[in-house]
Amino acid sequence: MNITFPKELVFATNNRHKLEEAAAILGSSVRILSLQDIDCREELPETKDTFEGNALQKARYICDRYGVDCFADDSGLEVDALGGSPGVYSARYALLKGAALQAHDDAANTRQLLRDLDGIADRGAQFRTVTALILQGEEHLFEGIVRGTITLSPAGEGGFGYDPVFIPEGYDRTFAQLLPEEKNSISHRARSLAAMKKYFSPL
Ligand code: IMP
Repeated sequence: MNITFPKELVFATNNRHKLEEAAAILGSSVRILSLQDIDCREELPETKDTFEGNALQKARYICDRYGVDCFADDSGLEVDALGGSPGVYSARYALLKGAALQAHDDAANTRQLLRDLDGIADRGAQFRTVTALILQGEEHLFEGIVRGTITLSPAGEGGFGYDPVFIPEGYDRTFAQLLPEEKNSISHRARSLAAMKKYFSPL
């Protein structure tokens, strides 16, 4: 079946950087609309316990209320020795362990992670993104993974979240030490968007 690229797609996110990244990756063939563009000022629900569940929940919310083709994503860090934690709780990791007062405390989250891995030799981990697309009422999921290792201590000033403690496979620097364009070219987010783009134009 030959799938045609939609002309416009709403990206259900309030994150400006994600919008710019998606526009750059999906190219000129599709116009990415923001939530602002469709006059949506609500907080999107994100209450599921999997990336797939959260990404679908956000995309369905927008599709049901605004009747538009759209996509949403959810990501996090999955650490092998912790059975895939913090996973969907990546942003709230230190908060849930009582080591921070709010979610998105990047310094507290990375400190907590290093504490939990103290003395553990297996440092394998991956960042994973799931992108949920709803196109003409049909739901599709795309995944992007970047494997790597967790360092013994933070290094680098760039990026956000767990970037200072994650060295991607094939590199000897953390995500926070790579140039933004280097990280963006191999990131889990970029890979899941690339998978969606490939679905639109498989050749
Ligand atoms: P989100 O679903 O993309 O908002 O990501 C949820 C959380 O996962 C973030 O708040 C970070 O803690 C973590 N995370 C996701 N992507 C990255 C990344 O590229 N670098 C570092 N941390 C990330």
